[in-house]
Amino acid sequence: MKIQIPKGTFDILPYCAEEPWQQSDLWQSVEAVICETAREYGYKEIRTPIYERTELFDRGVGETSDIVSKEMFTFDDKGGRSISLRPEATASVMRSFIEHNLAQAGSIHKLFCLGPMFRYERPQSGRYRQFHQFDVEAIGAAGPEQDAEVIDLLCQIYRRLGLKNLKVRLNTVGDSESRDLYRTALIDYFKPHFEQLSADSKIRLEKNPLRILDSKAPEDKQLVLEAPSILSHLNPASQRHFQEVCRLLDQIEVPYEIDDRIVRGLDYYNKTVFEVTTEDLGAQNTIGAGGRYDGLLATLGGPDLPGIGFATGLERVLQVMLSQKSPVGKKARPLIYFIPLGDEARTKCFLLATQCRHNKIAAEVDLQSKKVQTGLQNATKADAVYCAIVGSDELKSGRLQLKHLESRQTSEANLEQLLNHLQGLVV
Ligand code: HAM
Repeated sequence: MKIQIPKGTFDILPYCAEEPWQQSDLWQSVEAVICETAREYGYKEIRTPIYERTELFDRGVGETSDIVSKEMFTFDDKGGRSISLRPEATASVMRSFIEHNLAQAGSIHKLFCLGPMFRYERPQSGRYRQFHQFDVEAIGAAGPEQDAEVIDLLCQIYRRLGLKNLKVRLNTVGDSESRDLYRTALIDYFKPHFEQLSADSKIRLEKNPLRILDSKAPEDKQLVLEAPSILSHLNPASQRHFQEVCRLLDQIEVPYEIDDRIVRGLDYYNKTVFEVTTEDLGAQNTIGAGGRYDGLLATLGGPDLPGIGFATGLERVLQVMLSQKSPVGKKARPLIYFIPLGDEARTKCFLLATQCRHNKIAAEVDLQSKKVQTGLQNATKADAVYCAIVGSDELKSGRLQLKHLESRQTSEANLEQLLNHLQGLVV
């Protein structure tokens, strides 16, 4: 029996006609756009292991979060230590920041990280057990400008990837004083309706009533709609911070909607939280999300520095790009595809292709086909821009025909001047 890939995972492949978002060249171009944008905004890359001591996530992400309580891949290593595959990057970045005393290197630390994350969720379209996040963390700045910068960076990345019709949904969960006030208000509101609540929400009412606002259970829907708003329970400092973030986003023309039901599923958030959603993905419609987590570093034994960040799921980004026919991240394609006829021509084509490649022109030679027709089919399959058939006539005359595969138009070129000729062609 053939061995199959584990449930909830997928391969990233050189070609994949059925699921084009799984094609590796698309991933490479998307990753390049994202990383370049982050670098322009002053972020530097950090890479951490894909597994950590389980207690990092217990303390960092929070034991009451679904991610930690239900979704972690956890096992004991041979030394009996509890290890978990990282379900997200923030806690790992904080651990590394503390462990390497990065705080000493300056006052504001802008970091990004990209790689696979693992959550034992029920797989469905847009939701996987191994998925990839691009994650950003800005540590050290408490002011609203940092919030606006991070949200702007996320939007700028989406813009450069050609994504459209996205909604930035913005909220605040206040500082701890505001949240205490709000928690009491929520308990007072939900308690008389306890019996109507879903089983999960009954537990949340005890542990973390804010999470009830996140509930998708039909029996909670109406109650959640009518629940009191965090926005009327903010203390003056939290209110001021939120207003400033909104004012700055207005000034830099980042459109957003305030949505006071966003609380986020991870426990470390305070003040600003946000999600970016799309109509083009079905149920898993959040492509990126984040927020402020002042106090998290201190909780993990580090310096008491504020922080804010986001993560965006690359699978979802790629799927939206394809469904919206984004022009970004087109497949890498050869400019020229040589079809040699005979041994002598094959050597000549190999030399010409090598010369092209040494000069940064993508070139391919058909080394297998015995027939011109198959060679032409292969050129089309490779998505080449031009193809050239080289046989004894071409070798003798020193001239060849370049065929533009899309328009079917041909032009003549000199074999010895081919490189110059190709360099002059605009694709
Ligand atoms: P999160 O909301 O749990 O936040 O995940 C961020 C993004 O990761 C989601 O919006 C989604 O695009 C993607 N994602 C999450 N789970 C899956 C899955 N099972 N399959 C596919 N994509 C998924 C965080 O992880 C926070 N660490 C973000 C953050 C960084 N906050 C501050 N700094």
